[in-house]
Order: sequence, then structure tokens, then C-alpha cells
Amino acid sequence: MNRQPLTVAVVGATGVVGRTMIQILNEREFPVDELRLLASGRSAGRSVMVDGRTLEIGEAVPEAFDGVDIALFSAGADVSRELAPAAVARGTTVIDNSSAWRMDPNIPLVVSQVNPDDLEGHPGIIANPNCSTMQLAPVLMALRDTVGLERVIVDTYQSVSGTGADALAELEGQIRAHVNGEPKSATVYPHPIAFNALPEIDVFLPNGYTKEEWKVVSENRKILGLPELRISCTAVRIPVFVSHSEAVHVETREPVTPERARKLFAAVPGVLVQDDPAAHEYPLATEAAGRDEIFVGRVRQDASIDDGRGLAFWVVSDNLRKGAATNAVELAEVLREREWVSPASVRGARPYRAQASVVEATA
Ligand SMILES: NC(=O)c1ccc[n+]([C@@H]2O[C@H](COP(=O)([O-])OP(=O)(O)OC[C@H]3O[C@@H](n4cnc5c(N)ncnc54)[C@H](OP(=O)(O)O)[C@@H]3O)[C@@H](O)[C@H]2O)c1
Repeated sequence: MNRQPLTVAVVGATGVVGRTMIQILNEREFPVDELRLLASGRSAGRSVMVDGRTLEIGEAVPEAFDGVDIALFSAGADVSRELAPAAVARGTTVIDNSSAWRMDPNIPLVVSQVNPDDLEGHPGIIANPNCSTMQLAPVLMALRDTVGLERVIVDTYQSVSGTGADALAELEGQIRAHVNGEPKSATVYPHPIAFNALPEIDVFLPNGYTKEEWKVVSENRKILGLPELRISCTAVRIPVFVSHSEAVHVETREPVTPERARKLFAAVPGVLVQDDPAAHEYPLATEAAGRDEIFVGRVRQDASIDDGRGLAFWVVSDNLRKGAATNAVELAEVLREREWVSPASVRGARPYRAQASVVEATA
């Protein structure tokens, strides 16, 4: 049954991630029998062109999931918390792009090239990681599996498309205002984002980190199965439209040279090494935009760590594609290929359960 074309819903179909999901389902020729595009009541009745066909946007209500095999959710955590269980109750498997379920110990949090086997025991909901986590976990996996990870410091330079359609409009409006000598109004962010760098993404937590920074900490630990991993993050919003960049410093258990690290990174599916500083070649946000790969460059020995056990490098990826939509569609492909679309309970598979220590360490 699972190898047949599927009825697929996209929830949040009018948003920047939802629209990218529709595009990627088409690009990868995911076998869709029927595509149901859902958004809020505000958009219901509007139509969009998909592959030369006009499709109407429906309202995301529980009944809209009748007969849906897989739903890709990208409409925020509140919508996911309310509607994903209702969809599952109607036999739909949900791949959720929000933060609602990511740290739930019963729900797998999956990057397609890192932990696809975690999908087998899914209970009907699968969590797609945060975009900053997504581009980092495959690169860290390469080091975890060879030289071991002791400590990771990551500083992010995140594009405004990570906030959604309103933020794209706000940056563009502020650039125009600047050119016209007019005041810049900020409503999406607490300060103007144009010509600025804002060290505040999502809300502040009692520990002084922002929620975005803590997602990088806790999600990487869960995906990599390393609950004790020493990892810290500073997340910064910058005036770039698409693609997140990350400066990463890693202390490894065993020594590793930059030459070997480049080979380890390049061996990960979906990771491309671009590293020729003499030719000014390194990953760039503008070049990564519209691509599905994770780009790594500026690989060098971290001079602050002894015995050749330190690496520093730069990681860039399109936050809307691999950071969100592409990974969601890749997970749908794995579910279909391995005949894991139905929840584990229906297939008689062992239910997924995160390591207890992962849950305790990140609660
Ligand atoms: N942007 C990224 O790089 C990125 C990466 C990873 C994860 N995410 C996550 O993906 C989600 C969407 O992000 P986005 O960037 O696409 O935001 P967006 O451009 O603001 O789009 C939001 C979407 O959610 C829909 N929506 C809002 N309220 C709804 C409701 N009550 N019922 C049904 N649909 C509703 C909107 O529909 P209307 O048009 O009808 O309002 C729209 O389709 C968020 O959870 C975000 O955290 C985003």
C-alpha cells in the first residue's frame, strides 16, 4: 500500500516553508496521488498554481485530513499541537516542522542522512529539526563516528526567511526606506534588521540563552544520541534573505587534521566541501540559496586547542530547503521506501523512545 502514490497534505501551504515544500515535492517527483494545500481560514478559498495546475487552499481543520497519508506541517507550534493529534487520529502520518514535538521522548527527531532508522518506531508524528540544527548535525556526525566529539561551540548567522514571509517583507521595506532616507519601522523584530545583527532569535530562557540557541543544544544531542555532548550556541539574525551560516569550533577526542576532516565531511551524503581560501572559495549564503546541499569550508586547526584535537570551520545551507522542506520530503521518501508510513503500532514495530538520558539532559 505504501508504495502506491500517496495523498499528501501541506499545512501552512501559503508560508515560505510550505511553498518550498510544494516545490520540492514536485522537483523530487514524490508520488503524489492527491495534494491537499491547507492554511488558516484567512487563506481558505484562495488558489495557487502548482505545476501548471490551479489548486485551492483549504482550511486546516481536522476533517481536512480524512484520507491523507502524509501531512507536512509548517504552520507554527500552536497549530501543530492542536491539529497533528487530530490528523493522526484520522490515520495521517505527520512530519512536523515546528518545535512542538521535537523534544518529546516518544517522537523521533530526524535528519535524513543522520538517523533515518529512528523513523521506524514513529507513533504517527515525526519531528523535523530546527534549521540551524539541520545543517550542523550531519557535519558533527562525521566527527562523532571517527574522532569523537568532546565540545562544540557554534555561532549562527541566520537569514530573515527563517522567521517567515513577514520578515522577508520587513527587511525589504527597511532597505527601501534607507535608500529613500525614510525612517525604518520594525514590527517583526525588536530592532531594525537592515544593516544590523541581532543576537536575539526566539524568546530568552531563564538560563540566559535564547530558545533558538537552546534548540541547537538539545536537538543535536537528541539526533546524535549524545546526551552529554558539551555544546553551546550564540544565534544571530543578520540581514540576509536566504541561507543560514554557522561558525563552528569543535574539540575532538582524537587528533584530526583539516585535510582528514575535509574528507570526512565530503563523505557525508548531501555535504559538499568548498575550501580553497587562496581562490576566495568558501561557502556563501547567496550561492547556497536554492540548493539542497550543506556546504562546509574554511576548515582549519583550532589554534586554541592542544594536540591537534581542535577544528574550526564554516557551514552554510539554504534554511528553507535542507533546513526545512527538503529534509521533510526526504523523510517522507524514507517512510514510503521502507514501508513505514503507518505508525509503529500498526506495523507491529518497536515504538521509538529517546534515550532516557537525552530527555533528562535536555528537559
Ligand atoms: N522559515 C524557516 O527557515 C523555517 C525553518 C524551520 C522551521 N520553520 C518553521 O516552519 C513554520 C512556518 O514557518 P514559515 O517560515 O513558513 O512561516 P510563514 O511564512 O509566516 O507562514 C506561516 C504559515 O502558517 C499558516 N498558518 C498560520 N496560522 C495558521 C492556523 N491557525 N491554521 C493553519 N495555518 C496557519 C499560514 O497561513 P495563512 O497564510 O493562512 O496565515 C502560513 O501558511 C514555523 O513553525 C517555523 O518555526 C521555519
